[in-house]
Amino acid sequence: MALFAQDKNLALELVRATEAAVMASGRKFGGGNKNEVDRAAVEAMRYMLHGVAMKGVIVIGEGEKDEAPMLYNGEPVGSGDGPEMDIAVDPIDGTRLMANGQGGAIAVIAAAERGAMFSPQDLFYLDKIVTGPEAADAIDIQAPIKYNVNIVAKAKGKSIQDTTVVMLDRPRNEKLRDEVRKLGARIRLIGDGDVLGALMTCLPGHEKADLLLGSGGSPEAVITACAIKCLGGAMQCRPYFRNAEDEEKARARGLTRETVLTLDDLVKGDNVCFAATGGSDGDLLKGVSYHGTHIETHSLCMRGKTGTIRYINAIHSQKKLSEMGSSIDYSPNVREI
Ligand code: FBP
Repeated sequence: MALFAQDKNLALELVRATEAAVMASGRKFGGGNKNEVDRAAVEAMRYMLHGVAMKGVIVIGEGEKDEAPMLYNGEPVGSGDGPEMDIAVDPIDGTRLMANGQGGAIAVIAAAERGAMFSPQDLFYLDKIVTGPEAADAIDIQAPIKYNVNIVAKAKGKSIQDTTVVMLDRPRNEKLRDEVRKLGARIRLIGDGDVLGALMTCLPGHEKADLLLGSGGSPEAVITACAIKCLGGAMQCRPYFRNAEDEEKARARGLTRETVLTLDDLVKGDNVCFAATGGSDGDLLKGVSYHGTHIETHSLCMRGKTGTIRYINAIHSQKKLSEMGSSIDYSPNVREI
């Protein structure tokens, strides 16, 4: 495959929007208000996205237009020039973590060719299995947990006892957690942020876990799939229903508990890219930090076509940004005491 000078890596532009999201919302770190964190991140991300040279459409956003005024599903984003892209955003994955002053929150954007991304609509949750490339052909979300944990351990040349499963700490995942415990594998329970949880299974040099299991958000699954395409790992999902109504709505779209969504079903092709910036200190990315004159961010940029993984450590001048009249508010909220 020839690489041309004009062959652009959109992740390198999108990362400015994830940086902006954490710089604005990081001011609300520990403030206890999820909505404020989200609002600051959404406004900043949206503003920066409009400068990116693309004809983008939000496929995974903040929800439908009537409930989300910004970054809603179907909203056009980008300058209007350039490639036609599907865009998936999570202005902060781990909003609760950020609001509660805890680590592991990130801002994330993924992009793929127009029409490539699965649209979850009202399918809120998916069961997920994610692992690195070693066991890519062997995992099977329909098989018993024992099979999947065993096959991943074997592919990685490990014992079950040396194998770590990462999963969201949720009542709906308790049965699964107990099964994994019985097998003797290690478990990393995360409060929020299963995009980062999935990255832990296949980001070279940062493999804090061997596989991700359990149900989490469907939008996050599509974003994760873009990251996994870049990393060459493996992922499968299947619908998780909270109740009969969820099941009924999904059945009308031809989705049942038996439907397996492969990596390609979640995002087609390899013309995908992924950008994430640390909101609060996590295992894979440091969170945004403020130093009076400057703000520091740590990001990850990846591209499916080339498989390049870049870490970008940026120092942003608070003074110059405000002199430029940026409409994003990165300043501290100074309160009268
Ligand atoms: P947000 O911060 O974007 O709301 O998502 C956090 C998150 O933990 C995701 O990483 C995960 O996929 C989803 O929520 C799980 O949903 P729920 O909290 O409803 O179980």
